[in-house]
This record gives sequence, structure tokens and C-alpha cells, in this order.
Amino acid sequence: MARIVGYIASSLDGFIVDADGSLQWLYESAVELGEHHYEIFIKRIATVVVGRATYDWLLKEGVPSPYPKQRTIVVTSRPLDAPPEIEVWNKGIDPLIAELRALDNGDVWMLGGGQLQMAFMERGALHEIEIYLMPRLIGGGAPLFPPTGFRASPKLLSAKELKGGGVRLHYAFADT
Ligand SMILES: NC(=O)c1ccc[n+]([C@@H]2O[C@H](COP(=O)([O-])OP(=O)(O)OC[C@H]3O[C@@H](n4cnc5c(N)ncnc54)[C@H](OP(=O)(O)O)[C@@H]3O)[C@@H](O)[C@H]2O)c1
Repeated sequence: MARIVGYIASSLDGFIVDADGSLQWLYESAVELGEHHYEIFIKRIATVVVGRATYDWLLKEGVPSPYPKQRTIVVTSRPLDAPPEIEVWNKGIDPLIAELRALDNGDVWMLGGGQLQMAFMERGALHEIEIYLMPRLIGGGAPLFPPTGFRASPKLLSAKELKGGGVRLHYAFADT
């Protein structure tokens, strides 16, 4: 059974992209991830699951195939003109989660954004999440955890100060 994991950066005030749709605040950050660097994390990932808004953002950035070594699935209810190596999933979340759980070739990265990640959390489908808190307040944007009414008490596996003023929070969801 595959583990479905989150790995996501957030501003200190809880946004994953700013109100202008920019991640400049993240790129400008002096936070050093060290052993938790994305290049290390992605090596254990076999499958990446991407929400439509995040994929549209990647398209806008000119990156239609961001993860060439991973099976990449974009979840949307609308037609999407994507390269053939991108799998467009429009059959609903529940059958997707069932298919992902049945995989046995490596971890699944629930890349996000916040909306799709929340849909997985609401279904008890996220095993754990690594949150990289950046020491910036950005005033608005897309929330890390959209306020849908969902409640949970994940278990803190570790909290670690990162060079440059960031914090890594690693939580597990008990019922997955
Ligand atoms: N800071 C970070 O580490 C990080 C990581 C990832 C993303 N981001 C940023 O996050 C932003 C987008 O995040 P977001 O939360 O607005 O959107 P999102 O989760 O990327 O995408 C939401 C879309 O996913 C599709 N979807 C299908 N089933 C769904 C379901 N059951 N629940 C929710 N969505 C479902 C819908 O597309 P349809 O409308 O087509 O049905 C929905 O509009 C982007 O700007 C991206 O750059 C930042």
C-alpha cells in the first residue's frame, strides 16, 4: 500500500501562494532545508498528484511537465490540454484515492494546493504532512488549510528549526 504524503511550504500566516498568485516570497527566502531539500524528497516519490489550480499555475510558469521521473496526475473536472505524459483525472476523488492506495511502487506526493490536499484530508487519505513554515507574513492568498469545517488532531512527529528562520513541522494522521 502506498503512503500518500504532503510536502508543502507555507507563509507564517498560512498561505501557500500570495494574493497575486506569486511564490516570490518563497523563492526569496533564506531558509535552508538541508536534508529535507526538495531534491532529496522527490527521489522517494513515484507519483505526484496535482490540483488543477496548481497545474494551471505551473502552465503559466511554462512548466507543463514538472516531474519527468514521476507519474503525474492532475485532478480536474474540466477539459485540460496537457502533454501526453500528464495524466488528467476527472473520475472523482474517491476512485483516485483507492487507486493511489493500491500502488506499491513508492510514495505518492499530494503536491496540493490546499484545496485538493484538504479533499484528501477530509477522506482520511493523507498519511503525513511536512510543512515548511517561512518567516514571512504575506497578507492573503490561497490558504494552506482552506476553512471547510474539517477538524483533526494529527500527531506531531517532529518540529525543527531551520537555518534562516523557518520551521519544519512533520505531522502524521492517525486514522490513515
Ligand atoms: N507553497 C507551496 O508549497 C505550494 C504547493 C502547491 C501549490 N501551491 C500553490 O497553490 C495554488 C493553488 O492551490 P489551490 O488550493 O487554490 O488549488 P488546487 O488544490 O491546486 O486545485 C483546486 C482544483 O482541483 C480540482 N479538484 C478536483 N476535485 C477536487 C476536490 N474534491 N476538492 C478540491 N479540488 C478538487 C478542482 O479543479 P476543477 O475546478 O477543474 O474541477 C479545483 O478547482 C497555486 O497558486 C500553487 O502555486 C503552492
